Amino acid sequence: MFNQRVFSGVQPTGNLHLGNYLGAIANFVRLQNRQTFECLFCVVDLHAITVFQDPSELRRQTREVAAAFIASGIDPDRSILFHQSGVPGHAQLAWIFNCVARLGWLNRMTQFKEKSGKDRENVSVGLFAYPNLMAADILLYKATHVPVGEDQKQHLELTRDTAQKFNNDFNCPDFFPLTEPLIEGPATRVMSLRDGTKKMSKSEPSEFSRINLSDSADEIADKIRKARTDPEPLPSEIAGLAGRAEAQNLVSIFAALEESTAEAVLARFGGQNFSTFKSALVDLMVARIVPIGTRMGQLLNDPGHLDRIMWQGAARADAIARPILAEVYDRVGFLAPIA
Ligand code: TRP
Repeated sequence: MFNQRVFSGVQPTGNLHLGNYLGAIANFVRLQNRQTFECLFCVVDLHAITVFQDPSELRRQTREVAAAFIASGIDPDRSILFHQSGVPGHAQLAWIFNCVARLGWLNRMTQFKEKSGKDRENVSVGLFAYPNLMAADILLYKATHVPVGEDQKQHLELTRDTAQKFNNDFNCPDFFPLTEPLIEGPATRVMSLRDGTKKMSKSEPSEFSRINLSDSADEIADKIRKARTDPEPLPSEIAGLAGRAEAQNLVSIFAALEESTAEAVLARFGGQNFSTFKSALVDLMVARIVPIGTRMGQLLNDPGHLDRIMWQGAARADAIARPILAEVYDRVGFLAPIA
């Protein structure tokens, strides 16, 4: 039916915001609806614990990501929606990749450098090996395409290097595919509403820096009204956004929400002041985001239902993973199961 497979993961760490939605989840929905790919969407709880997580919070956030997927339009019958810890193959293949990938490769990962900072001696070993687990997520299903943001491109290159080295070391040239990133969508990078040069993030202290998927219409209106801008009116051409990070961010959010382009947005609002533009942005954002937040709230009222959906997804994912992992075990030289 499909000859191409998409895999992507979202970490269950903290409230989901507009950046997660426009940068990831909305693209997943488009890929699912294109019907050219078999899609696996995973709540990556094993990745989450590379930094300590309160156990009951982790469970709650795992369900919250699943609820956000479903509320945004991921159909758990058409796509495979599951939690990473529900399929043991992720951890099993990650161990093998820990023995394939080289220390020097991981030492080059810029995300690790950023996340560990000055505290390098004191972060978990898992945080360092994180990219190997990500490679395992993808290659456990021989996924051909991975929708990710710019910040994950380096991890995807490492995935390709690991695939290639495995194929080489074990003499199986075409065993693991060389997975391609799918970086698309007008707003793959949503920036902070307070500082247009920083990514919108759950860890930014100011609530006014981000729109949460659970925000009410009033909260959205308030945050957009207070979003930082500059005194000039909007330009009518893209070139006029140069050096105006906040204006650029709001225009690209608008374009992403209405699934048009920044050009189209500027053709409409060029020459107008921010207050006019912002009130149109509030209307659009409320119309797109509030129904998702409402649906998430309803879904989260029945955690048992969400858990069943994820475990059913895990069983389907496991059925794809098993024969692939069995072949990996055989190629590595582990004993075949006895009849
Ligand atoms: N590392 C990704 C992030 O932090 C999440 C992730 C884990 C992922 N495994 C993946 C993304 C596999 C794509 C494919 O955003």
